[in-house]
Amino acid sequence: MILIIYAHPYPHHSHANKRMIEHAATLEGVEIRSLYERYPDFNIDVAAEQEALSRADLIIWQHPMQWYSVPPLFKLWLDKVLSHGWAYGHGGTALRNKSVMWAVTTGGDERHFAIGEHPGFDILAQPLQATALYCGLKWLAPFVVHSTFVCDDETLQATARHYKQHLQSLLEVANG
Ligand SMILES: Cc1cc2nc3c(=O)[nH]c(=O)nc-3n(C[C@H](O)[C@H](O)[C@H](O)COP(=O)(O)O)c2cc1C
Repeated sequence: MILIIYAHPYPHHSHANKRMIEHAATLEGVEIRSLYERYPDFNIDVAAEQEALSRADLIIWQHPMQWYSVPPLFKLWLDKVLSHGWAYGHGGTALRNKSVMWAVTTGGDERHFAIGEHPGFDILAQPLQATALYCGLKWLAPFVVHSTFVCDDETLQATARHYKQHLQSLLEVANG
């Protein structure tokens, strides 16, 4: 089962993520949890999130990039749900050997991420990658959608189709 943890602060105003989610939702074996719709008061049901994660073989962390990082509710989700004794630490083995993929959309194009002294997208991925590895998750290559500000609807639809195909192939690998 693929579990998409979806964190868009304004899901109804989304262009890129909305289409990706719509396409992913048509796949069998995919469950989507839209954090901002589920927890508008930021009161995350940790037990329910952990139960959903337990059922998943592959976890997707999907969100728009915000200030080179994740939206605040997703950060809170990481802090609360990946708890000691469950995701890491003594007895914390719940996520071991599952896989995770970061699906992120950005306003900037690829060159936009070349600014600064230590440029590169891999650097931005590092906190999430390290979090995943610390919890025993396998880190898959991220699915990155750049230049969302300038993409027309046709391009976004094509990207969403590509996303769906990619999830489908990951499902097939997971099912052996
Ligand atoms: C508060 C905020 C911060 C953002 N920070 C970044 C950023 O650091 N880098 C970037 O490329 N885009 C940034 N963006 C642009 C979003 O990533 C972009 O609008 C989003 O990926 C588009 O997806 P959507 O159509 O699903 O909303 C930011 C947007 C907002 C609202």
